[in-house]
Amino acid sequence: MPRRPMMAANWKMNKTVREAQDYTAALLPRAADAEEVDVVVFAPFTCLHEVARMAGDSAVVAGAQNFYYEDSGAYTGEISAPMLLDVGVGAVIVGHSERREIFGEDDEMVARKTKRAVEADLLPVVCVGETKEERDAGGMWEKVSGQVRRVIDELEDAGGESVVFAYEPIWAIGTGDTATPEDAQDAIGKIRDLLRETRGDDFAESVRILYGGSVKPENAAEIMAQKDIDGALVGGASLEVESFVELIEAAQNAVAPPE
Ligand code: 13P
Repeated sequence: MPRRPMMAANWKMNKTVREAQDYTAALLPRAADAEEVDVVVFAPFTCLHEVARMAGDSAVVAGAQNFYYEDSGAYTGEISAPMLLDVGVGAVIVGHSERREIFGEDDEMVARKTKRAVEADLLPVVCVGETKEERDAGGMWEKVSGQVRRVIDELEDAGGESVVFAYEPIWAIGTGDTATPEDAQDAIGKIRDLLRETRGDDFAESVRILYGGSVKPENAAEIMAQKDIDGALVGGASLEVESFVELIEAAQNAVAPPE
């Protein structure tokens, strides 16, 4: 089975409920046209209920940008997997570099969250990636492989369809400085090789791996054309529905070119 491409919007800390409603209303019919693409909108907690309600049984999945691995209790400010499921959320970003760098999430926390998401049937999109200094010092793979290994160790016998990775080099996020398609393919191909070595062919071939970092309509087709890249996790260019739709179309065209 070929892997289904995924195009994911990460709104980060943006949009009111009203803005989310307008966006979702415009997105739904356009996303339905892209039959070969899984479309996910990672909205802020305050908008999630509404995005999930409007998306209903459509092809669009509402996703959260974070959660905590305990189910309930004295964890002021946190949101759990059952709470997300309760409002119709189907996916969650785990270990985004902004959470790692600004909020101090470490590999241990990321691994525990990933494990809990898989158990709860929430699709985790696990972010990995190196800083500019690490890349310049030749340490890209040491950093990224360590992050991936820590998550894989925790997943035990979970199938490859139950987790998605996103390679997001930190220096490419929000900077306009996209990794070249070759650099993105190089890192993502290495991640797939590592999955193959640790968990075997079937697992490695079924895990979707996205690229993230200054993806926009102008560079999406080239990125989607890379053999191991199964989609994108998009910040800035996902905030306007029209540019996000162009990205969805680029993903659709990569697997089903228009006649
Ligand atoms: P940009 O697309 O704004 O570079 O953000 C990427 C990102 O962090 C997605 O999670």
